[in-house]
Amino acid sequence: MTPLTHLSHANASLGTSNLYCSTTLTLPFAMNMTKSLTELANQYGTDKGTVGPVRTWGAHNYTDIYEAYLERYRLSALTILEIGLGVTGDRWKAQIVTGRNAAGGASLRMWYDYFPNAMIYGIDINDGSYLNNDRINVFIADQGRVEDLEAFVKASGVAEFDIVIDDGSHRPDHQQVSLSFFFKLLRSGGLYFIEDLRNNGIGDGATIRGNVSRVQNTRRVLKHFFEHGAFLEPHALLDANYLEQHIDYMRFHVPQVAVKTVMRPIPRRIIDRVVYFQPDTESVCVIRKK
Ligand SMILES: C[S@@+](CC[C@H](N)C(=O)[O-])C[C@H]1O[C@@H](n2cnc3c(N)ncnc32)[C@H](O)[C@@H]1O
Repeated sequence: MTPLTHLSHANASLGTSNLYCSTTLTLPFAMNMTKSLTELANQYGTDKGTVGPVRTWGAHNYTDIYEAYLERYRLSALTILEIGLGVTGDRWKAQIVTGRNAAGGASLRMWYDYFPNAMIYGIDINDGSYLNNDRINVFIADQGRVEDLEAFVKASGVAEFDIVIDDGSHRPDHQQVSLSFFFKLLRSGGLYFIEDLRNNGIGDGATIRGNVSRVQNTRRVLKHFFEHGAFLEPHALLDANYLEQHIDYMRFHVPQVAVKTVMRPIPRRIIDRVVYFQPDTESVCVIRKK
């Protein structure tokens, strides 16, 4: 894979050999630098890891995928945006704010620890400003409203992002509006991740809160471009031409392999457990900008 040569690398000279041995690191910081993204996810209780906020929560295991793309930039001075922070409020009852994640904002805490030199921006329909610190900046914005996204960009003063992660409403129209808007602000070589592509929209049996049937499921819209060079309609993309011209590559991932039990018919007993791929189960995608 071509490295993200255009990402800002103010601290790249540190090199990976300094990751675990710098004597200038404070102890908690040094401890976190030895943790994988999955360990941090599980510590804070985002469902991007393997355990989620509580034992009964179905976690996604996206962190393996993120780490495969992002580990090499761990010390880089990235500008990261996450849409949807897991903060609860009047506008969205965020059920993920429970257990290990009782304070909310688990994924921002995870990114903060994983990327010690990154500036981390977050937007949410609820107020998550209590998460703000020296490198976290949170704003209220509805990811489906361009006016809100413009106001966020103006208020934050950010001109370009290296990485954008969409873990917001998961509505396909919202995902597509946000992709259209933020892809223009993605640095050349930057990466745009969209989570939970399976849960909504035309062409997808599963539904969640806010499901709308006006547009195609985002996975189908994007896969159609991937396979045929044009986005499947109806979609909510605002400037499909720009996307078509600036997408370098698009990859789809199935983070949880399904395990099927193979039974002997008579007498019925288990003879094997096999992992298998279910078509159309790609639930996260990464899009790289040219
Ligand atoms: C699944 S939670 C995010 C979890 C968090 N990223 C994590 O991994 O811990 C979804 C979040 O999206 C927010 N949200 C819902 N609709 C939104 C919208 N239209 N715009 C922005 N954020 C939204 C909710 O308030 C909630 O905090």
